[in-house]
Formats: sequence, structure tokens, C-alpha cells
Amino acid sequence: MSQWTDVEKQYYMQCARRQPVVIVRGQGTKVWDEDGKEYLDFVAGWAVNNLGHCHPEVVKAIQEQAATLMVASNQFYTVPQLKLAKLLVEQSGLSRVFFCNSGAEAIEGAIKLARKFGKSALNGAYEIITLQNAFHGRTLTAITATGNPHYSDPFTPLTPGFVQVPANDLEAVKRASNGKTCAVLLEPVQGEGGVRAMSREYLQGLRAWCDQKNVLLVFDEVQTGMGRLGTLFGFQYFGVKPDILALAKGLGGGVAIGAFLCNQKADVFQPGDHGTTFGGNPLATAAAYAATRVLIEQKVPDHARRMGQRLSQALEQVKARHETAVREVRGVGLLMAVELYQDIAGDVVGACNQEGVLLNAVRPNTVRFMPPLTLTAAEADEGAARFERGLTKVLQAKG
Ligand SMILES: Cc1ncc(COP(=O)(O)O)c(C=O)c1O
Repeated sequence: MSQWTDVEKQYYMQCARRQPVVIVRGQGTKVWDEDGKEYLDFVAGWAVNNLGHCHPEVVKAIQEQAATLMVASNQFYTVPQLKLAKLLVEQSGLSRVFFCNSGAEAIEGAIKLARKFGKSALNGAYEIITLQNAFHGRTLTAITATGNPHYSDPFTPLTPGFVQVPANDLEAVKRASNGKTCAVLLEPVQGEGGVRAMSREYLQGLRAWCDQKNVLLVFDEVQTGMGRLGTLFGFQYFGVKPDILALAKGLGGGVAIGAFLCNQKADVFQPGDHGTTFGGNPLATAAAYAATRVLIEQKVPDHARRMGQRLSQALEQVKARHETAVREVRGVGLLMAVELYQDIAGDVVGACNQEGVLLNAVRPNTVRFMPPLTLTAAEADEGAARFERGLTKVLQAKG
């Protein structure tokens, strides 16, 4: 056991369930631990390393920007922030953007924007409808929006003004809405909820209903954005455009950054309504600009779609060989899950680590796959093979 596990136990707040792997280096899809053991990283910093670890264009942008200007305050104009703003707005077809530092902050900002819209355009409406099984982050308001007692019970009282309904059920949204509703907030594919996609019909129906009621449609694309579903933004895969779009994770090519964008209708912030010290700083936005350009210019989302098909086929073959253990392979692009019949996902992930592939037990019976989008076909096959070896080990041990 590494000395670092003891250091963590003594000095770090004990709120993370960590795997016993100390990662010291990463390159592309691979990472290495302190003993030099190599792993295929199908966790990718929790769906962050969309271009793999240490992509040369991102590293170069960071090095150059770090030597030029790292932070300046939003009291002034800075160039990387504005280049990134223009690129994201043009690519998304939305109107404006605000940069922050994380996914939860992007959600907080989106919620503030929706509430301000409710105040100014809907007679003070403030309620936001969210979905069961959602995940929107760990700030107080984000855990309220998430609506899962597991995350929120120890921290009550929560932010008022949230109502939850089952996913993929338009009638439930209609029933939950009233004169106080200002927005519907959802993930097009629920990530932490076990990789569960919304149907196109549901999202189209929701779009039409929101338009009819003048209620905002807010997509949390913190996990599904930046190429992961095989399109630059997840909403493009579904063909349904939100009024507000929250991004983070893959946006910075490995550097912490979040963003929320809005269309003209939702563009209601005025000077003083929102702000941040670090959000949109030159270092993070230079990294994100470089990463986003690589995604676009090298057509990485198309590659992700192809590799998603490849990985999905390989996992379907694993399922066929382990019919009594694997219930379902599901996902979109390179956000994928294997659901098992038994609650053994934690053991399987532990065994897979030993076999050299890092995975995430997103549910007690579900293993999540979210590798870099630059994954090669050989790595997809090898990752599935290592997963199968880990799964087989656990099944054999359980008899
Ligand atoms: C869909 C979604 N929204 C929000 C968040 C919160 O992002 P962060 O951890 O950067 O605050 C996450 C994190 O996993 C997420 O998956």
C-alpha cells in the first residue's frame, strides 16, 4: 500500500471513496501509478479528459499563457476569455456566455439566470422543475436541484423552489407546473444517474411545451457536452436546443472551467447581477480555447461516435458471453454503462483496476465507461477485454 493512502487518511477530509491507485502521470488514454504500472483510463478525470491526458495543443496553450498572463480580474478585458466566448457562442448558436470554474457553479449561474427571467418576464415565477435520478453538483442549490436525499439530507434546510418529476414523462412536467414555474432543468443523458438517455420525443415535446408556456428549458451538459455524445454539444445529438446550456468538465481540456450560455430571450443579466474572481481567467480560457479548437478542427466528436460504436459492440460481446451476469449495455457516444444483475459493480471496478483499466461504479449494479474521446479502436477493444477479465474474476470468486 502506498504511503500516500496514509497521508490522505490523516490529512484529507474523508468524503471521497477512493480506489487504491496513486496516479502520477497521464498521456492520451493511459495513466501510470507510482510503481510505473500502466492503466487505460476509462474514468478520464470523471469525463473531463475528452482529448486525453496532456494533449500537446492544450499543454502548449497553458505553457504560453502561464508565461504571459494568468489572471487579471473581470474588471478588465482579457483576450483568451473573449476568443473562447466568441467560439462557443458561434458553435452553439446561442447568444452569450458567462465563465465560471466548475459544473456546480455553471448550474448555480443557470439557476440564477432562470430566476431572474422569472422575475422579469413571468411575474416573479421562481420554481424550477428537475428530474428524478438527476445530478447537478454539490453546492447547496445544486444538491437541491439534484433532489437525491443521499446528497442533501445531511445539509438541510435546502434552497426552496424546486420540484422533481420522473424522467421521460412530459405529462409529469405539465402536472408539476403552475404559475410559479420559470424553468425545466435536466441532463439530456443522466450521467451519475447511471447513464440514462432522454428520448428525442420527450425532449422535443418539452421544447414545444416550454415555448408555449414561455418557460425556460435548461440543459445541464456538464457531462454530455464537448463531444462526449458524438456531437460538440449533446443538444445537437437530440436536435433540441435549450434556452440555457451549462458546460464544464471537458471544456478546459483538463483545466478547471465551467460556463453557461443563453439565447437572446434568457439573456437577462445586467451589470452587478453575477460575478466571479477566477471565472474566465486567461489561463483556463486559453486552455479551453485550445481544447475546443482541437475538438472542432480534428472532428473529435465524429471519432467519439465511431469509437462509441466500437466499444459498445465489444461490450455487447462481453454481455453475450456473460448472459447471466450482464443485464444491459447502454449509452450514447462515449458515455456508456454496463448494468449487471447483481450489486457487484464496486468489486468489478476493483478487479478491473488490477487488470489495468480504470472504471467507475456509478451505481451498485452499474459500471460506467467514459474514456477520452481520442480513444483508439485498439484501446476500446483492450479496455473491454480488461473489463471482461475483471468481471470474470469477480464472478468466479462469487462462485
Ligand atoms: C451533469 C452534471 N452536472 C453538474 C456536475 C457538477 O460538476 P462539478 O463537479 O464540476 O461541480 C456534474 C459532475 O459530475 C455533472 O455530471
